[in-house]
Amino acid sequence: MTVPSPSGESNYKSHISDTVYEEKLRQSFAYYSDKWDNQNLSYHYKIKRQWLLNTIHEFYHDPQKTNLNLKILDAGCGNGLYLIDIVEALENIYGVDGVGVDLTEEMIETSRKRALDLKGKYEWFPMDLENDDCKSKLGEQQFDIIMMNGVVCYFKNIPQVLNSLKKLLKQDGKLIIIHHNPNNLTNLVLKIKSLLESEFIWVRNPSNKEITTYAETKGYLLKKYQILPCGGMPYFLYSLGKIFWDGYGLVFTLK
Ligand SMILES: C[S@@+](CC[C@H](N)C(=O)[O-])C[C@H]1O[C@@H](n2cnc3c(N)ncnc32)[C@H](O)[C@@H]1O
Repeated sequence: MTVPSPSGESNYKSHISDTVYEEKLRQSFAYYSDKWDNQNLSYHYKIKRQWLLNTIHEFYHDPQKTNLNLKILDAGCGNGLYLIDIVEALENIYGVDGVGVDLTEEMIETSRKRALDLKGKYEWFPMDLENDDCKSKLGEQQFDIIMMNGVVCYFKNIPQVLNSLKKLLKQDGKLIIIHHNPNNLTNLVLKIKSLLESEFIWVRNPSNKEITTYAETKGYLLKKYQILPCGGMPYFLYSLGKIFWDGYGLVFTLK
């Protein structure tokens, strides 16, 4: 069942049923699994990647501890681009195990191929974060870092997913969420498109405040918040600043 936003905003898929939505979502991501490479968004990609790396250093860098062996879960890893880049960049500093899960087998397959012959340690699992029992897929694994980049808007029940991820986070672990601002220009254009084309599924991006409220009610504490470009927005518009600010990065710990 879909949970409406705290302010009762209309839902992205009010005109179609849950099962139709789930099937369309799966088909759409399966289709893009071997097409996306973020090359055309490289400016945004590099900033998000750097922000993730800086954030991990900020919380974990300690010259006294050389082999922390960080375990990182990329929940909704897509084609594996971010997880792989991050594991390869941090491997020599901390020792990292990367686990990527995604709704579609196709995304997982693309990620697996991308990681072949690299030096980092990876595991990849198809998994529906809303409906699957995480424990049955991941066993007793617990993570230092769980990241979700551009994923939360696809959940029908965000609080429920945040709650189930708690089981996978170590007591001092960090949940890192990157997402789009609901009022960014791209989202407004897509919203208009969805009004004109009934078949087009517009996904309502949750705001930073909404995510924070959900997380706090589920036992997380906000540790860091930053405005970020999240993709889709040309640089000159992003540089117009807060009028069209594009997205945000949030870091939570367990209370
Ligand atoms: C916009 S893509 C982002 C992919 C990746 N995190 C990145 O930044 O490149 C969203 C991803 O979330 C995945 N996803 C959506 N709903 C999901 C669910 N319920 N469980 C797991 N993954 C999901 C999709 O399959 C898709 O790969």
